[in-house]
Amino acid sequence: MRTAIFAHRGSKANRPENTLSAFEEAMRVGSDGIELDVHLTKDQEVVVMHDEKVNRTTDGKGQIKNFTLKELKELDAGVWFSPQFRGERVPTLKEVLDLLSGFPGILNIEFKTDRNIYPGIEEKTARLIGSLRPELPVVYSSFNHESLIRMRRVDPSADVALLLWERLADPWRYTEQVGASAQHLWEPSALSETAAQLQQHGIKVRAWTVNKPKNMQRTFEMGIDAMITDYPEVALDLRKSF
Ligand code: G3P
Ligand code: CA
Repeated sequence: MRTAIFAHRGSKANRPENTLSAFEEAMRVGSDGIELDVHLTKDQEVVVMHDEKVNRTTDGKGQIKNFTLKELKELDAGVWFSPQFRGERVPTLKEVLDLLSGFPGILNIEFKTDRNIYPGIEEKTARLIGSLRPELPVVYSSFNHESLIRMRRVDPSADVALLLWERLADPWRYTEQVGASAQHLWEPSALSETAAQLQQHGIKVRAWTVNKPKNMQRTFEMGIDAMITDYPEVALDLRKSF
């Protein structure tokens, strides 16, 4: 089985993460999947950024939930990475879905709901996908597994994946209870005997964040279902020899 390659936050290593430039690059190199993170603005728009605060990846300060979309759009989301990307904006999920029209791969949407500060984000996201890109294969993931359970209530056919740092004590039963088809495991946990055990139970394994070529090779050798990487182009190139 061929290991799929998902671009982490777009092509994070060489583009400002979670921006349209990053997703364009991920598509340009031929990624099999694209991973991104979602939050809600003060006026309830689903937007794409990693941190809860805008401080690290824009020229603003404060929490996303305290910005309206209009205010968030005034921030520069590219210059912190390189002056070459000055003018890049924080994208809405809708804008990303428009950009991905024609993308033949999988979209992995991570709910950043660890602190439960975005009530309704699962419904809003499901509505956007359902109305704009119902045909797009989407995998929803989160470290907050309640969020995945809520997503499955909103859309019982939603494909959800447990985000995990470590192997669970009772991984099969728990995965089934949540209704997940996959575990997205931290690289050291994924690159262990756990991966094959999960796969034998019909649970897909996607490893994050696989950035070293040596670990990319290992991921291919082990037949892990997918890797999530900041370097999709490097991984795609290495995969050619497998
Ligand atoms: O989905 C894998 C990975 O993105 C989880 O960690 O912090 O990069 O969102 P983080
Ligand atoms: Ca993520």
